[in-house]
Amino acid sequence: MAIPPFIIIAIDGGAASGKSSSSKILADRFNLLHVDTGSFYRHITYELLRRGVSHTDLPNLKAALADLKFTTRLNGRSAQMLIGGEPASSEIRGQNVNDHVSHYAAIPEVRHTLLGYQRGQVDVAKQHGFRGLVMEGRDIGSVIFPAADFRFFLHADPAERAKRRAKEGGQDSIAERDRLDSSRKASPLTCPAGAIDIDSTFISLDQVVEKMAALIAPKLK
Ligand code: C5P
Repeated sequence: MAIPPFIIIAIDGGAASGKSSSSKILADRFNLLHVDTGSFYRHITYELLRRGVSHTDLPNLKAALADLKFTTRLNGRSAQMLIGGEPASSEIRGQNVNDHVSHYAAIPEVRHTLLGYQRGQVDVAKQHGFRGLVMEGRDIGSVIFPAADFRFFLHADPAERAKRRAKEGGQDSIAERDRLDSSRKASPLTCPAGAIDIDSTFISLDQVVEKMAALIAPKLK
C-alpha cells in the first residue's frame, strides 16, 4: 500500500484573522502538528524583555539571541517552544508583549534565529507520527515554506478583527501590529503570489475551515 504523503499547510494573515482557530481545527481533523509561530515570536520577545535587552540595542540583542536554546514539547497536537527548557509564560499574551513583539519581529537577526527552528518542526511532526503540519504566522507561505502543499492567506476587515479580539477579552493593538508587520523590510506580512486568499469578514469560522478542508482532504486520501 502506498504511504500517504506528508503535507505542509501554511496559514498566514493579520492579527486576529482566524489563523489559530482554523489551524487548530484542521490539525485535529487531519492529525497534523499545529505550529503557532506567533507564539514563538511572543516567547522570544518576553525573554528579551525579561533580560532587559532592547530591540534598538543590536550588539546586546545578537549576544542574547546566540545564548537562547530552543527545544520543542508537544501540548496535545500543538508544538510548544521551550527556551532554555522553559515553556512560555501566559504573559506572552499580555499587553507588554503585544506592544513590543512587532518591534522585535522586524529585526532580521531575530527572524533568522527562528528560521531553522521553524523548518525543523517537520522533523518533530514526523517523529511523532503526524500526517503533516499546519503552521500559522505572517511569512510561512512566503519565506518558511514557499513550496508548502497549501498556502492560505486569511483576510478580515480590521473592525471585525478588533471585535473578535475584544470578545476574547484581550487588549491588543492589532491595527498597529499589522501596520508594523506589513511595512517592515524583513519578511513583511503579505499575501504571496499563488496563495489561496480567503476573506473571513462575512463568513463563519466553520465556513473558513470547510473551504480549506475541501481542498486538503483529497490530498490525504
Ligand atoms: O500571531 P500573533 O498575532 O500571535 O503574532 C504576534 C506577532 O509575532 C505578530 O504581530 C508579528 O509581529 C510576529 N510574527 C511574525 N512572523 C510570524 C508570526 C508572528 O513576525 N511568522
